[in-house]
Amino acid sequence: MKMTILAAAWMVPLAVLATPNAEEVMKASFKDRGQAKVDRLNQDETQAACSKYFAAVPKDVAKKIEAANLKTIKYPADGKVMGDWKEGERIAQSGVGKQFSDNPANPAGGNCYACHQLSKAEISFGTIGPSLYNFGKLRGFTEAMQKYAYGKVYNAQAYSACSNMPRFGHNQILTEQQMKHVTALLMDPDSPVNK
Ligand code: HEC
Repeated sequence: MKMTILAAAWMVPLAVLATPNAEEVMKASFKDRGQAKVDRLNQDETQAACSKYFAAVPKDVAKKIEAANLKTIKYPADGKVMGDWKEGERIAQSGVGKQFSDNPANPAGGNCYACHQLSKAEISFGTIGPSLYNFGKLRGFTEAMQKYAYGKVYNAQAYSACSNMPRFGHNQILTEQQMKHVTALLMDPDSPVNK
């Protein structure tokens, strides 16, 4: 029994490595289910560059990726990047959306808690990203910092090439209004992030 499990565990990556085109194997292994279509495996220019260099992206390539992604950020037409932190908290703590079993008509969550600590009261959070507890307090409650927070959520790779953070605005995961709420969660002095 033990043998079978072990063999299965290491044979899978070996099979992928042994094929000349891992992408084809991936594509053949998945099928469309609901809103989760196989075309999610198609990489855009940024993702393809990040895959090419994997962990060690050369500095000049990183700079190009950041510049290209910076250009994609669309700030709200009314110039206001701050919404309601209470709404932002609900979005940050929700992992709903974009899965085959989710209704695509409903708004998606930001799932921020899966990678970031956001408040002192939180008992469960992921650590792939840095803790955002006291983000506004530590960085300063300035307009420039509000703009940075909004832009970071819109397109994380504008500031950090090949980041593991989803590009929420760029890939239309969150709406403009939702990103405003999340920005307020990080930047409102009354938000639990800054308490
Ligand atoms: C899959 C993991 C993941 C998710 C989900 C995620 N992030 Fe991140 N985030 C990261 C990582 C990794 C970094 C550090 C690298 C970087 O700066 O991109 C980061 C960095 C950040 C930063 C910059 C911190 C700094 O010191 O300047 C902010 C702000 C941020 N995330 C906010 C959010 C918000 C808000 C959400 C939810 C809407 C979110 N993140 C969702 C992984 C994630």
